[in-house]
Amino acid sequence: MGVCWSNKIKSVSLSNTGFNSRSASRDGSGVKASSSSMPTTPRSEGEILQSCNLNSISFSELKNATRNFRPDSVLGDGGFGSVFKGWIDENTLIATKAGTGMVIAVKRLNQEGFQGHKEWLTEINYLGQLQHPNLVKLIGYCLEDEHRLLVYEFMPKGSMENHLFRRGTYVQPLSWTLRMKIALDAAKGLAFLHNAEQQVIHRDFKSGNILLDSNYNAKLSDFGLARDGPTGDKSHVSTRVIGTQGYAAPEYLATGHLTAKSDIYSFGVVFLEMLSGRRAIDKNRPSGEHNLVEWARPYLTNKRRVLRVIDPRLEGQYSLSHTQKAANLALLCLSSDPKFRPDMNEVVTILEQLQDTTKDMLKGTQNEHRVTSHGQSIAAPKSRRSSTDEASKRVTVNYPRPSSNPLFA
Ligand SMILES: Nc1ncnc2c1ncn2[C@@H]1O[C@H](COP(=O)(O)OP(=O)(O)OP(=O)(O)O)[C@@H](O)[C@H]1O
Ligand SMILES: [Mg+2]
Repeated sequence: MGVCWSNKIKSVSLSNTGFNSRSASRDGSGVKASSSSMPTTPRSEGEILQSCNLNSISFSELKNATRNFRPDSVLGDGGFGSVFKGWIDENTLIATKAGTGMVIAVKRLNQEGFQGHKEWLTEINYLGQLQHPNLVKLIGYCLEDEHRLLVYEFMPKGSMENHLFRRGTYVQPLSWTLRMKIALDAAKGLAFLHNAEQQVIHRDFKSGNILLDSNYNAKLSDFGLARDGPTGDKSHVSTRVIGTQGYAAPEYLATGHLTAKSDIYSFGVVFLEMLSGRRAIDKNRPSGEHNLVEWARPYLTNKRRVLRVIDPRLEGQYSLSHTQKAANLALLCLSSDPKFRPDMNEVVTILEQLQDTTKDMLKGTQNEHRVTSHGQSIAAPKSRRSSTDEASKRVTVNYPRPSSNPLFA
């Protein structure tokens, strides 16, 4: 969830979180996902809580479930507060002994934090209705006196941010294949939001808000800053600028005009983080490298120098053409002019094609050579390179014509 410009930018107005009926919708991958049809347009707290299909869970139950919010139950901390691991009975939602029943993640609002009741309610507003394999499941909430808590399905592998940036001998870096899978999952989650009958703009899409289950299936979290997209003939929603520094689109920062293309820009930043293993903003790097997008942009436009951007820990796992395609996708999403950014369905299609060609390369069925960061080629095993032509036909990616994009001019 979002905070202010130290590394976050925020303020939210729930009165603007116009909330209309959201019926079943399709994401870019064709997965049918559901959100309950809302007969009314709830706006007040009472209406939202009544219509959200979530369980209200008492504070004492959550206290027991997390063993009195024990410090060693903490899964992480964010702008909203701390997140605790807990256990409840799946059917009765009553606290169970640690290690038995269903594992949950309990997010507890920190009264002194940047975020508050509005973000708590906005999260319930959206996640109470939207359901998709690539959105984290909100199980319930607690509203009691000053207490505001949210109860989620537990995501055993935590956030992608932790996997990408936590260094240590015991931390295995995510492989190229896993990174591409996570990017695709996250893109499907965003596509679902953008394609919903009433479009939803996430507004705080970042690596910390991509959670991973035990099989590295990725799900989007933190809808506290989300907004309904423009309706009718409106081109944008006017808002105060909020989100996280380093991820927000330039036109949104400059004008407060919010469109789904703002999420696409944020996706481009996250995708670049995944390719490079570098944070969107990293003040610990040498000057000139603090801002990932500014640093990487010149390399991304160059066919060979693009390898300079790729995370050295991925050495030998990708081909030159993969990196070029991935770099092109990042560049398109990061286009300064939002109209040159692809929509989320196009992003999903491109990532699906990239995933197919990666599988082919690993199987050795494609005329692709893995390369090192110096551009040296590592050949695929000869004996298995049989259906080269078939495979290469499949990899045609329909990017917008280079001439129509200033980045290629
Ligand atoms: N459902 C969950 N299952 C497992 N771990 C979770 C879950 N939700 C959050 N976490 C852990 O808690 C950490 C903090 O999450 P939180 O959403 O509060 O903050 P954030 O997204 O990291 O930061 P910010 O609030 O600044 O956006 C996450 O990085 C993750 O490691
Ligand atoms: Mg989060």
